[in-house]
Amino acid sequence: MDKKKLSVLCIDDEEMIRFTVGDYLEDSGYTVLMAENGKTGLEIFREKKPDVVLVDLMMPEVNGFEVVSAVKQESPQTPIIVISGTGIIQDVIEANRRGAWDYLTKPIQSLAVLQHVVEKSLEKAALIRENEAYKKSLEEKVRKRTLALEKINTQLREILWETVNALSVMTDKRDPYTSGHQKRVSVLALAIAAEMGFSEDRMEAIKVASLLHDIGKIYVPAEFLSKPTRLEPEEMQVIRKHSFMGYDILINIAFPWPIAEIVYQHHERIDGSGYPRGLKGDDILLEAKIIAIADVVEAMSSHRPYRPSLDIGYAISEIESKKGKIYCPDCADAFLRIICKDINKIKTLLKTS
Ligand SMILES: [Fe+2]
Ligand SMILES: [Fe+2]
Repeated sequence: MDKKKLSVLCIDDEEMIRFTVGDYLEDSGYTVLMAENGKTGLEIFREKKPDVVLVDLMMPEVNGFEVVSAVKQESPQTPIIVISGTGIIQDVIEANRRGAWDYLTKPIQSLAVLQHVVEKSLEKAALIRENEAYKKSLEEKVRKRTLALEKINTQLREILWETVNALSVMTDKRDPYTSGHQKRVSVLALAIAAEMGFSEDRMEAIKVASLLHDIGKIYVPAEFLSKPTRLEPEEMQVIRKHSFMGYDILINIAFPWPIAEIVYQHHERIDGSGYPRGLKGDDILLEAKIIAIADVVEAMSSHRPYRPSLDIGYAISEIESKKGKIYCPDCADAFLRIICKDINKIKTLLKTS
């Protein structure tokens, strides 16, 4: 440790002590500052900011205990060493409690011991400073790394949505008659989920799953999708495979939600009359039950190759009459509440999305 740059403040009302200690430490290479009482000592401390403080306890005006408390409060990293002649153990305890780093008794038997105590205190103070600087640099590194990760996370989310939208549009493009179907189902499903009080995270699952719910139709021959007459049973069988094909396409994507399973279930009905597995009640995910309603409402409200679009009243009576039978009652109620609140909004939403 380079003593030339280090300063010691010695606060003692005994001139003899000040000069003995001061001369010795000066000869050892320290810059020594002196004060004959606590009040002056604190003034010098605040102005000069010494590296270490030596203080007597029994002094007029401001005593050593008060000096210890003030130094500890104003600069906890500055070592403060008590040199006192009281020799009372309670004083040692009290000085320690207030923040003194060490304690020496008067008369000082060996100035070399004093110098050793000063040096140890300074080494300890330097270590504390180094630790704090290291801690700060670590915190700064963590802060920067966290910001970088947040940025990557935002970029990944943007990529996710762009990919989902691209896949959704790709599926819709295969069938010009149902163009935009998944987008409109997604808007309606989100409105139902919001009405049911879904969390933001779960709403995202609904959004992804509904935008991709018919992705399996890319395996269905285009002529089946755009057939102007009703489908033959065997053609219908092929179309019905789209639920599983969608599941098969999506199962290997590590979405943070069960997207593949929701897609697999979007044509299931709570009484087991749906397809492809005939699942019932609670075996069907709530997300799939919501998409099922949005899917039916959108399909009925849209033009099909074999019929013109139907008034939304048909879709409403479909959901109302089969609520609790094939459609989840809570999801159906949420849909009907939205309709009650603003039917025109839903009509516009189904036309423009
Ligand atoms: Fe479907
Ligand atoms: Fe659909």
